[in-house]
Amino acid sequence: MDFNLTEEHLMIQQAARDFAQNELLPGVIERDEKQIFPTEQVKKMGQLGFMGMMVDPKYGGSGLDAISYVIAMEEISKVDASASVVMSVNNSLVCWGLQEYGTEEQKQKYLPGLASGEIHGAFCLSEPEAGSDATSQKTTAVDMGDHYIVNGTKNWITNGNTASVYLVIAQTHPEKKHKGINALIMTKDMPGFSIGPKEQKMGIRGSDTHSLMFSDVKVPKENRIGEDGFGFKFAMKTLAGGRIGIASQALGIASGAYELALNYSKVRKAFGTEICNHQAIAFKLADMAVNIEAARHLCMKAAWDKDQHKNYDVSGAMAKLFASQVAMDTAVEAVQIHGGNGYVKEYHVERFMRDAKITQIYEGTSEIQKIVISRSVIAG
Ligand code: CAA
Ligand code: FAD
Repeated sequence: MDFNLTEEHLMIQQAARDFAQNELLPGVIERDEKQIFPTEQVKKMGQLGFMGMMVDPKYGGSGLDAISYVIAMEEISKVDASASVVMSVNNSLVCWGLQEYGTEEQKQKYLPGLASGEIHGAFCLSEPEAGSDATSQKTTAVDMGDHYIVNGTKNWITNGNTASVYLVIAQTHPEKKHKGINALIMTKDMPGFSIGPKEQKMGIRGSDTHSLMFSDVKVPKENRIGEDGFGFKFAMKTLAGGRIGIASQALGIASGAYELALNYSKVRKAFGTEICNHQAIAFKLADMAVNIEAARHLCMKAAWDKDQHKNYDVSGAMAKLFASQVAMDTAVEAVQIHGGNGYVKEYHVERFMRDAKITQIYEGTSEIQKIVISRSVIAG
């Protein structure tokens, strides 16, 4: 077993770290406060190869492995989790889903733009009455021969307003339940496609989250991904990899908060000494360090499973479940270590605390990850 990163992995880590420090850190507080989408920064992430990391170079991607993706996601998330969710959705849900299951024509049409950061995508599964219970899709895609007519509402869609390509899950054969669901590629210029107002969020406020409404939207049959009825499997398989991305986002939030807390504890003095010399603070730092290391191992293991073409449904769920709890715990303690300064924006850790929470909710709540994991361990 080799725990060393390769030369290539180290270069990717350095490039992501430099980008985060130089391009994301300036303005991150203002973007969070005013809910400003990081438009220019996302374009630059594309130019650096971070928007289509696992996409085959023949479609304009970086052709890298999932380990590289985890490394880059951690570094970007250490500074700006709003930018990293844009990156995660585009890489692991949209690009990966299209590359793995799209037709040659679909790949050629959409992947080069998505991988270069010229455009980005959205993944549309959740509905007002189908969040965790994702098989209960109410959005319909009625088969009209050479096209579908789509009606319904999607909720909480990341990149909802800024995306150009939307992968939409909808029910075609309700009598077949989840086996009747399809995945369709939609674009917002399709008549009948409308976008709701921006959600006012607690965290990841730089990312744009919207409801989408479809009223008799005509979608050509050639926009379907996979065979008729493959849509739910498509969503589940894609989300399995997406969860590695969100686990890495959580890891980055945790390590970003930890580094700030560690540095602060070495300069802030109380009772005549730096606060890291008080055992209560030192032990918090020890707990953070152990948890982050464990979360990183779980993320890397899930990515390694993916790279080795092993099943990563459970390892990805474990990584997300654990890393998101570590993100939450670490960010809360980072605020505590900063004392009053932790409660104000300029020290960043209050943002990490708000951003951490979403990692326990999206791409399957922690309870859903436990369902996935427990079913597997019980089945043996
Ligand atoms: N790979 C392939 N197929 C899978 C699968 C996987 N990982 N997981 C489930 N399936 C298949 C099952 O095999 C089954 O198909 P068959 O009947 O043909 O075997 C079908 O899917 C239904 O599965 P279940 O019977 O297990 O369905 P369920 O209703 O009991 O539970 C669930 C399914 C795991 C709870 C699922 O609904 C789920 O993951 N819910 C959470 C939804 C979610 O993660 N949403 C995220 C939205 S995207 C997002 O959030 C993006 C973002 O924020 C940035
Ligand atoms: P519910 O399913 O109503 O769950 C409510 C509570 O009940 C949760 O604690 C849940 O864990 C628990 N619960 C539900 N069922 C069970 C059960 N069987 N056992 C135990 N506990 C259970 N979705 C997309 O499709 N695309 C996106 O891009 C996207 N981006 C998002 C961005 C943000 C900022 C947010 C907030 C959400 C986003 N989502 C997106 C939606 C997200 O995936 C859902 O919010 C999530 O899956 C939970 O669904 P729900 O909100 O309907 O909660």
